[in-house]
Amino acid sequence: AAAEKGGWPSFMAKEVAEQPDAVANTIRGRIQGDAVVIPELDGLDELFIGINRVIITACGTASYAALVGKYAIEQWARVPVDVELAHEFRYRDPVIGDDTLVVSISQSGETMDTLMAVKYARERGARTLSVCNTQGATIPRESDAVVYTHAGPEVAVASTKAFSAQITALLLLGLHMGRVRGTLTSAVASDAVAELQSLPEKVAQVLAEETEHVSQLAGWMADTRSVLFLGRHVGFPIALEGALKLKEISYIHAEGFAAGELKHGPIALIEPGQPVFVIVPSPRHSSLVHSKVVSNIQEIRARGARVIVVAEEGDAAVLPYADEVIRIPLTGALFEPLLAVVPLQIFAMALATAKGLDVDQPRNLAKSVTVE
Ligand code: G6P
Repeated sequence: AAAEKGGWPSFMAKEVAEQPDAVANTIRGRIQGDAVVIPELDGLDELFIGINRVIITACGTASYAALVGKYAIEQWARVPVDVELAHEFRYRDPVIGDDTLVVSISQSGETMDTLMAVKYARERGARTLSVCNTQGATIPRESDAVVYTHAGPEVAVASTKAFSAQITALLLLGLHMGRVRGTLTSAVASDAVAELQSLPEKVAQVLAEETEHVSQLAGWMADTRSVLFLGRHVGFPIALEGALKLKEISYIHAEGFAAGELKHGPIALIEPGQPVFVIVPSPRHSSLVHSKVVSNIQEIRARGARVIVVAEEGDAAVLPYADEVIRIPLTGALFEPLLAVVPLQIFAMALATAKGLDVDQPRNLAKSVTVE
């Protein structure tokens, strides 16, 4: 087993480090010139034309990738997208039909809840597309089309590189759909393609520049009993994923919130010393959204929170209120999740390690849940 880990202390550490390759491999072969063209979807334009609704269904980490996908598909393909947990989807007579595209996301392709949701969608006449990391798995076989993620085998129970590959695949899918539906200008498409191509290097940069800093921070926080995560826009699903990683492998109570929701409840949780991670969106994309998150930071800081921000390089607005600043390189708004999630994975892993836990085999969890 030590040899399989390639010198890393755990499969999770190895898989976190493999994310630049997971992203690059998922993009490879899917860019033609200035456009995203997914060869597996060749001849399947009818999946995307004439639909008036997309539902993305998944469980666990994959459902947070789905939430990022919602923002991307709505932005680029101009069709409403809902994200549904697979186990909630089919027990309430949902309104779906042949004008609905149901996209399922599953690393294993064997999660029973997700499989049953796909079967249900097909029986109701919906079009089905699977995003999957395992060649020939059951869910892609039950779907009209499949876009494989090419993260390589993922062994650690807590998903990391498969999550990054899922987000990458959904960005590609959004760009592919936008092109097919005619909702994407060539300028937007070529900017997105340039951004996609620079992503593996930027993920590698976060790993190189933040691993030690974040691990040290986790070491200092080994006695922490609760950690909160705030994000807005595509930072919201990343807040949820940061909290899930911490629950899964370090058994610490953690919750992710939409930053705008703070004043509607969660701010009551803030007391002196409470650690809060805040995923700060770039001010270059929306100064309004950025300033709203900065004022959230001020509000929690005023109540004594220990604020750890994940912010883009050069964002100085966060400095007066942050106890710790984790930096990510500049990228497009919809691409930020791929960079912001990395320090949160490292944090969870380092904290679990500091507590002496086995990060690859957390208690009570299975890599793939093949029962309902
Ligand atoms: C299990 C795993 C999670 C994973 C979820 C969905 O609960 O412990 O890490 O996110 O299943 O798995 P899938 O293979 O469908 O992506």
